[in-house]
Amino acid sequence: MSVAKKEYKRVTVKSLIEMKKNREKISMLTSYDYTMTKIVDGAGTDVILVGDSASNVMAGHETTLPITLDQMIYHASSVVRAAKRALIVVDLPFGSYQSDPKEALHSSIKIMKQSGGHAIKLEGGKEIKESVKRILNAGIPVMGHLGLTPQSIYKFGTYTVRAKEEEEAEKLKKDALMLERLGCFALVLEKVPAKLAQEVAESLTIPVIGIGAGNGVDGQVLVTHDMVGMTHEFNPRFLRRYMNLYEDMTAAIAQYCADVKSVDFPNKDEQY
Ligand code: KIV
Repeated sequence: MSVAKKEYKRVTVKSLIEMKKNREKISMLTSYDYTMTKIVDGAGTDVILVGDSASNVMAGHETTLPITLDQMIYHASSVVRAAKRALIVVDLPFGSYQSDPKEALHSSIKIMKQSGGHAIKLEGGKEIKESVKRILNAGIPVMGHLGLTPQSIYKFGTYTVRAKEEEEAEKLKKDALMLERLGCFALVLEKVPAKLAQEVAESLTIPVIGIGAGNGVDGQVLVTHDMVGMTHEFNPRFLRRYMNLYEDMTAAIAQYCADVKSVDFPNKDEQY
């Protein structure tokens, strides 16, 4: 289905609300470095998330917990230097906002000042209400994140679908409404039933961006390294791989190694 798209020179939090009103779906992808961002931004992605998934994808940690605020700022500043059009949202990492609202504000200000990102994202509902208020009062746009919240992995024990039971679904709906009322500009819903995600999206005026949350929401987000098939061990049902870069790069690098060994590379035209 083709959708009439308004051209945005720079996507802002206002543009996203407008897109929802115009029923234009929002595209969001992760990026953690300059070179990848040039591609992701140049291809027309609306929102770039400097996700704390950098902890897994870039640093090889098992969870998102180890990444620090300074490491997030390093990634975010590289992204900011490359992006010309996308709105850049930066994750507040685990341990940088949970202890109290003052700390949450301090971490958000540090991200905004030192990276040049445009907004922050943090995980949770009622538990982080005061922190969200405090950050918003400072004029920093906030994106919420409900459903599967990887920073709480040790509390839940698994990465399975969330809010399948009535009680958890009701809490999620309440939290979503609370985040909208507080003034968040958008919400990520991760790994929840499609029906519930659609219900939440239809009940809110702010955009709901899903990952493993079906197509009844206002936009989609994926980890870029997963969707281009650079990673190959992570195979959740919600993931569509648009390329198989892992195999293509492995073949290219193996060829380079063989060419070096056989002195095929460099040839006469590739030297001075
Ligand atoms: O860190 C991240 O990449 C995320 C997305 C999966 C939404 O939070």
